[in-house]
Amino acid sequence: MRMVDLIEKKRDGKELTTEEINFIIQGYTQGEIPDYQVSALAMSIFFKDMTERERADLTMAMVHSGDTIDLSAIEGVKVDKHSTGGVGDTTTLVLAPLVAALDIPVAKMSGRGLGHTGGTIDKLEAIAGFHVEISKDEFVDLVNRSKIAVIGQSGNLTPADKKLYALRDVTATVNSIPLIASSIMSKKIAAGSDAIVLDVKTGAGAFMKTVDDAKQLAHAMVSIGNNVGRKTMAVISDMSQPLGLAIGNSLEVKEAIDTLRGQGPKDLEELCMALGSQMVFLAGKADSLEDAEEKLQEVIRNGKALEKFKEFIANQGGDASVVDHPERLPQAQYLIEVPAKQDGVVAEIVADEIGTAAMLLGAGRATKESEIDLAVGLMLNKKVGDAVKVGDSLVTIHANREDVAQVLEKIYANIHIADHAEAPVLIYGTVTE
Ligand code: URA
Ligand code: CA
Repeated sequence: MRMVDLIEKKRDGKELTTEEINFIIQGYTQGEIPDYQVSALAMSIFFKDMTERERADLTMAMVHSGDTIDLSAIEGVKVDKHSTGGVGDTTTLVLAPLVAALDIPVAKMSGRGLGHTGGTIDKLEAIAGFHVEISKDEFVDLVNRSKIAVIGQSGNLTPADKKLYALRDVTATVNSIPLIASSIMSKKIAAGSDAIVLDVKTGAGAFMKTVDDAKQLAHAMVSIGNNVGRKTMAVISDMSQPLGLAIGNSLEVKEAIDTLRGQGPKDLEELCMALGSQMVFLAGKADSLEDAEEKLQEVIRNGKALEKFKEFIANQGGDASVVDHPERLPQAQYLIEVPAKQDGVVAEIVADEIGTAAMLLGAGRATKESEIDLAVGLMLNKKVGDAVKVGDSLVTIHANREDVAQVLEKIYANIHIADHAEAPVLIYGTVTE
């Protein structure tokens, strides 16, 4: 087989065979096929697309390019949740203990954040002592015993995707549905879950800026998952404004605790219920989505979800007393209010820009090497659709330095007040095939 012939085939809009796709991914991973040929292929895929079969084959070729996690030693249906990335998205911190409280195994492999998108591990590390450097055996043991554990991403998971994603980043081929869908799904499948609930975000803070694009991506991922034998479904949710009120590591841990207590922000609560009930349903622990939601509400009411969060923290070396004493989480030195300059209704809180404002404070990483400050971030005091009067605080800045002029400027530039506005739709729909 010659790579040049395969590039030509895709350039002309023809379908690649399973063998051809395996040849490309193996050769690329092993360094036998050079970047320039794979760049040309990626650009051909960008313009000519891939069939469902090609997408599933590409995904599985990437899965087999490195280690895969075998979760078969864990009893029960392992359901994973994946978000395509957003700002202040605290859902994983809430859903992991919430679902585990119903005896559904949550075996989570997670990463650190880059840019304005926070990583679940960073957030959990805001809890003193908490660590994810546990052995594979410990991980499996913990999930069997407590139904919940988080482990750091293995170094050699889907190396083909790592290489291809980096190449796409510098060849203007990131934004291709078959390439994004296979990239995300390869990592989820290699991580070993039986069923996958996807939260596909749409809006300013998301990869997919329109609902139509988000639906297309959701269909692509759901079809890959189901074609390779993992029960997969997707929820399309709004990321035009940040989710919940907290953006920042400690602040989001506190927000998760409030939500597990039944006192979280309304949008975060609603999305957690939508995603959580799908997880419970896919795990076979409920007869219907309504039944699943009722079960989730019950473990919030009776305190089991909160207890599960404490158990999870203690299991991984963390100080579980933060659940009852959130003031023991890292606290910022300065709290600075951002008063509204006019009366009206909040019409827009541009998610990615507000995320960048939090990153400027130190809540996120500008580069992979940046250190993050777990204490800092932003608390929104208003959301889109809320009425405001001059002087009302729009946001409270939690900072570890006094000079926040640049952050203030970014916040003012990205929270728009108008005469009329309504809260956006939170959930645009679900995709099951
Ligand atoms: N996230 C991924 O992991 N891969 C993509 O291609 C895009 C977003
Ligand atoms: Ca939040």
